Amino acid sequence: MAMIAYECPQYKVTVVDINPERIAQWNSKNLPVYEPGLDEIVKAIRGRNLFFSTDIEKGIKESQIIFVSVNTPVKDFGAGAGMAADLQYWEKTARQIRDVSDSHKIIVEKSTLPVKTAQTMKRILTSNNNGVQFDILSNPEFLAEGTAIKDLEEPDRVLIGSSDTLSGLRARDELIAIYANWVPQDRIITSNIWSSELSKLVANAFLAQRISSINSFTALCEKSDADITEVVRAVGMDSRVGDKFLNASVGFGGSCFKKDILNLVYLCRHYGLSQVADYWEGVIRINEYQKQRFVLTMLNAMFNTLAGKRICIFGFAFKANTGDTRESPAMFIAKRLAEEKAELVITDPKALQNAMIDLDGIEGKISYIEDPYEASAGCDAIGVVTEWGLYATLDFRRIYQAMVKPAFIFDGRNILDHKKLFEIGFNVFPLGKPPLTHL
Ligand code: UDX
Repeated sequence: MAMIAYECPQYKVTVVDINPERIAQWNSKNLPVYEPGLDEIVKAIRGRNLFFSTDIEKGIKESQIIFVSVNTPVKDFGAGAGMAADLQYWEKTARQIRDVSDSHKIIVEKSTLPVKTAQTMKRILTSNNNGVQFDILSNPEFLAEGTAIKDLEEPDRVLIGSSDTLSGLRARDELIAIYANWVPQDRIITSNIWSSELSKLVANAFLAQRISSINSFTALCEKSDADITEVVRAVGMDSRVGDKFLNASVGFGGSCFKKDILNLVYLCRHYGLSQVADYWEGVIRINEYQKQRFVLTMLNAMFNTLAGKRICIFGFAFKANTGDTRESPAMFIAKRLAEEKAELVITDPKALQNAMIDLDGIEGKISYIEDPYEASAGCDAIGVVTEWGLYATLDFRRIYQAMVKPAFIFDGRNILDHKKLFEIGFNVFPLGKPPLTHL
């Protein structure tokens, strides 16, 4: 919404939320999320044509176009628990829009939703016959965290799904007109609503599948003395495959991939497509396997016992350049290590606050230290879990000197200079490459 307001001064954009603290933060000096470039944009246009408010009714009444971006977490109760999308917030919002609206509205689905949600929304909106007309569009968001501003400024594509009735097409054109303020026409594509809803799930499933594919091969490389970096270079140079999004890791995290694939699997099972569901479920199974494998590599390398050992986790965010820890592999790894009775020191430049919340109540000794030198001092091992650029620039000689010997490094992102670390004295365990050890 900030980007729309920034690029389109002729529109007034009001962001409403039920949470007064969040809205107060959006109206303050300290925005509630860390996203490179967002501060500058919000601060430049807040009060000009971008407003944050808790007055949801007024926001609905005054607007012609309403973007619904409420959360759709995985359901944790009843039918479909652990897989289906929890649509309760979505439905409440639809009812509120229906009850408050007294003029024609275009409703834009921004949240990622199961296919055919627009149909449900239409039924709710038109269920009290007050004569108000609604047009529903699907406009999924493809931005990634950490690069959100760039992704919004120069999107690969903007997708708008609509019905093909006259008013549906008119609504679609209104939304096209907004994006056309900064997105080239050939990057704004249209489709029917269901294709649009499904495209978002499919895009995320494909991206996650790439990561699980590479991660599955790290396991094979470790058994066969092949090197995953060399394999990826050779495979990625095939222009049909492409070289992006092929970085081996401890596993993917974030609020989208797992949730969207689980939704997709649920949807397929609902339609009786069990082979399709099993296929995509495999992407998640490999991801869980990869996180577990990281912990087991640590355990094996460190003489099959971690009890009482001090392990420093480099990075808690689910990826670099964000403070977001939702579904972060670090969370799983930290919990598993605590189960092994290791003592943990967590370090991260942006995610320590969230880490403390996530690990609250975990049994064992856990400390949180922002400075990586201080954090790793006195530790037996370092596990690199998030690919923060900062970690590749550290003085590892200094780090090594302050650690307990033998000192271990497990590079779960392959971002460090392994040969150099080995020469310093570390026992180095990269992903998908032979380990370099002095033992
Ligand atoms: C994702 C999609 O990229 C985006 O299009 C969609 O709108 C939302 O979901 P996001 O979750 O913000 O975005 O981050 P993304 O960059 O896709 O990374 C997801 C996870 O995969 C992270 O944990 C990341 O570290 C990991 N990853 C990514 C890898 O392990 N290897 C890679 O090569 C790329």
